[in-house]
Amino acid sequence: MQLLQHERRGLHGGAGGRVAAGGSHPASIFQARNPSIAHLLLVHVHHRRNVVSMYFRQLLNEQTACASYLLGCKSRQRFAVVDPHIDLVDDYIALADDQGIPIVAVLETHLQADHLSGQSELVERTGATAYLPAGADVGFDHVALADGERVALGNTELCAIATPGHAPAHHAYLVTDLTRGAEPWMVLTGDALLVGDAGRPDLHAGADGSVEEMAQTLYRSLTERLLSLPDDLLLYPAHYSGSVCGHALSSNPASSVGFERRHNRALQFDSEDAFVEALVRDIPPEPEGHTEIVAANRRGRSPVESG
Ligand SMILES: [Fe+2]
Repeated sequence: MQLLQHERRGLHGGAGGRVAAGGSHPASIFQARNPSIAHLLLVHVHHRRNVVSMYFRQLLNEQTACASYLLGCKSRQRFAVVDPHIDLVDDYIALADDQGIPIVAVLETHLQADHLSGQSELVERTGATAYLPAGADVGFDHVALADGERVALGNTELCAIATPGHAPAHHAYLVTDLTRGAEPWMVLTGDALLVGDAGRPDLHAGADGSVEEMAQTLYRSLTERLLSLPDDLLLYPAHYSGSVCGHALSSNPASSVGFERRHNRALQFDSEDAFVEALVRDIPPEPEGHTEIVAANRRGRSPVESG
């Protein structure tokens, strides 16, 4: 039952229009004979209906097995996209327009190596601000987020957790819906921790460290940062089964910190050396064209556009 009129606006250039959603007045659901009790209940409903909990949608690209996220605060009208895929830019904008909420922030967990990012196109089409982890070394305007920095989206908050290792600059994002509680509800783990495996350590190795050193860094990010989070925190990765970013990934692109702590094969080693040895020994094939993809994402333009 929808109680409020909802104004749909073409915020990102789409067709506008006003849509009135019908529904019973909240008072009609009460049959209280005592007017004072009915009044108190009505006040409660009026208070509750002014606070809308967080919007959250996971969008999948089956071709590259990438997961991305559109989320934010409907009350204060601020949406963000995390790890946008170039092929889904129209979908993020259409979903946000359908909710009547502008996309104001576009975040990457890291510089992507297996697919073209939709970040620059989204920024261009919506006027949103681009955010990347500090040190991502990209050639376009953005806000460089340090460890622990927050992006406020009204009643939705994202907090960066530095989790390098898959890439030298990599953040997970803790998500808090302040309409539900002050504690984080979920964590978007990018390619640091996937459902069933850890991220691969080789694609961004080089000047910032050897493959072994990246794996060592990733071990510390996992054990000291992500595994210090509560078991009941929901976990949403950037890839799932079918991606070359890990072995034995689940086809379910969602989990919890506790379930991965107990059942993720990369989290069952009792020493850093054992983790590194296994991760380095078992690296999947490189994504096709990943050098060009990284270069294009660093420039913020597609390989075709950038020549
Ligand atoms: Fe990655």
